[in-house]
Amino acid sequence: MTASLYERLGGSEGITRIASDVVDLHLDNPAVSPRYSASNIEKLKHGAATFFITATGGPAVYEGKDMLATHKGMNINATEYMAVLDDCLAGLERNNIGQREQEEVLFALYGLRKEILAV
Ligand code: HEM
Repeated sequence: MTASLYERLGGSEGITRIASDVVDLHLDNPAVSPRYSASNIEKLKHGAATFFITATGGPAVYEGKDMLATHKGMNINATEYMAVLDDCLAGLERNNIGQREQEEVLFALYGLRKEILAV
């Protein structure tokens, strides 16, 4: 049987490291960094990690708002959405996650666009 995506991403420890790297990549990415200028970065990293652990079938319990409520009113455009997807893939690559897992994550992130893009 194939291991769960949670396990293949390195469990809670691995996903926490990936989420932290992705947030760092956002802060270094001029296409999206201004969006996070008022953010508490430790809190954002915690939210990103627990969201991902929960979404991939792991034990963490994400306590933030759902994706629509989180991003409503931000008027996020397609270029920004693409930049975030690019950073997520770069974060996976940085942590030596294989192509199959990258594809599964990308598919899941793309599927969230109706709750995040231009809402
Ligand atoms: C598939 C794509 C995305 C996912 C899965 C995602 C996920 C998240 C999560 C889990 C949080 C934290 C919520 C919390 O802890 O309460 C968050 C917050 C946020 N996201 Fe996204 N996001 C995505 C795309 C974007 C895009 C494209 C932008 C704009 C560039 C963006 C801007 C923000 C901002 C500004 C916050 C709030 C930060 C804060 O409260 O300090 N997100 N997002």
